[in-house]
Amino acid sequence: MAVVNSVRPNSTPLLEVRGIVKNYPGVLALDRVHFDVRCSEVHCLAGENGAGKSTLIEIIGGSYSKDEGIILIDGNEVEFSSPKHAQEMGIAVLHQDLPVLPFLSVAENIFLARQPKTKLGFVNYSEMYKRARRWLDIIQADINPQTPLGNLSMARQQLVSIAKALSLEARVIIFDEPSAVLTSVELERLFEIINSLKQEGRGITYISHRLEEIFEIGDRVTVLRNGRLVGTELIRKINKDTLIKMLVGREIVETTGEVIKKDKGKKRETVLTVKGLNRSGVFKDIDFKVDRGEILGIYGLVGSGRTELVRSIIGADPLDEGEIYLYDQKVKISSPKDAIKLGICLAPEDRKRQGLFLGKSVQENITLPSLKKLKRACFLNYKKIAGYASVFVKKMKIVTPGLSQKVRFLSGGNQQKVVLAKWLGMNLKVFFFDEPTRGIDVGAKEEIRNLIRELAHQGKSIIMISSEIPEILRLSDRIVVMYSGRITKELSRDEANKEKLIAYSMGVT
Ligand SMILES: Nc1ncnc2c1ncn2[C@@H]1O[C@H](COP(=O)(O)OP(=O)(O)OP(=O)(O)O)[C@@H](O)[C@H]1O
Ligand SMILES: [Mg+2]
Repeated sequence: MAVVNSVRPNSTPLLEVRGIVKNYPGVLALDRVHFDVRCSEVHCLAGENGAGKSTLIEIIGGSYSKDEGIILIDGNEVEFSSPKHAQEMGIAVLHQDLPVLPFLSVAENIFLARQPKTKLGFVNYSEMYKRARRWLDIIQADINPQTPLGNLSMARQQLVSIAKALSLEARVIIFDEPSAVLTSVELERLFEIINSLKQEGRGITYISHRLEEIFEIGDRVTVLRNGRLVGTELIRKINKDTLIKMLVGREIVETTGEVIKKDKGKKRETVLTVKGLNRSGVFKDIDFKVDRGEILGIYGLVGSGRTELVRSIIGADPLDEGEIYLYDQKVKISSPKDAIKLGICLAPEDRKRQGLFLGKSVQENITLPSLKKLKRACFLNYKKIAGYASVFVKKMKIVTPGLSQKVRFLSGGNQQKVVLAKWLGMNLKVFFFDEPTRGIDVGAKEEIRNLIRELAHQGKSIIMISSEIPEILRLSDRIVVMYSGRITKELSRDEANKEKLIAYSMGVT
């Protein structure tokens, strides 16, 4: 693949790395990688889960050390001793993992370790809030600087990170999968901001698994595979198929999502019914039902109450009013444990913090909840248990040196796959999936969708929240759209299309 060296052949890159090598025990994460960012460009970084994207930008951002290679800023070689050092050199990294200090206020997060001080050397809070307000205003983010960061939605936390990057006067701003936590409207807003940053002459690096985004926002794209550089291309010179080939090294066909046709004659059997669910200030008057073998999609913008709703149904959050029926039986669910006993589970959105044991191995994470079942079936046959885990590792293409690797050391996307595997393997009746393919690469996304389809085919009932419109359209038998805590519309597969989903999710009636 031809390597394009520059967008503007004569300009020195703002940032350049050459021959970067990074080794972890058993994993060569980066193998002589080159990458550069020029002024006024968006240089996308792409690659499957575990390809080395985050490792590369953490090295660029001064968080990780490199084993070999050099970093140049404006053509001059630099050696970063810390993230702070990289920041001082004009590099801001917006991490894949969200904030370190959720209890500190928005302003404190923006001015971490560089708060304005009073004459007596105390933090000057009023000045800090004022300055934070100014940076937030520039990106039109209506956020109170005094709010604890952790109280904001992930989308708004992203905006705070952008304000922080601006306040650092960063010349190179690196986004590690920002869209993983945004929906379409918020993403449009982010793209507007990125475009204006670009016009100001800054260089942007953008990591995403969504190819449409790369084509919309990018000027160039660099692809990594297994830690190696596959190539750098001008976006306008390539198409989606070329990019997919670079990413996975072969062509893949996205199944168009032909749904396994339901037998028309077969009687429909309703499995889960919810009636009049209310949670004050969060959602109101929610009614829906799901049949055996059906996939019900829930679409809505961040803040529409989707995640809160499903969390309340499975007993993770309180419910003020309403009834839940399993078949015809009214049930009371006070905790996720109750839900599982009834055969209902939720694979949560924030999988890393809810349901992943970072210190445990890949195998333990996958098999933990199914262990009882497996023990019974296999008489504690460890070989069989390992076999069960390795089926998922293969199917979902989990990149790991082995089943015993601690999950902590997997890449972001591969951690996601591990948690998902755990839920997919449970033998239950009703599955709630909150953003099941978020942060997962093109090849494996399709595998996960197939696993979900397979569950439905086995007669399970699925309720799936997804912010990816093509995904929800292709997978769902029916879709309910939420806006501001209410269901504003229910659409059959045939009625639903992109325009309708967007309109109803924005409150159009
Ligand atoms: N601290 C670590 N110890 C051991 N291996 C690691 C460590 N950090 C990352 N790795 C490995 O390095 C490789 C590259 O990981 P990286 O996080 O850079 O991938 P990525 O391209 O960002 O993937 P994703 O799309 O899933 O976020 C992976 O195989 C990962 O398991
Ligand atoms: Mg990553």
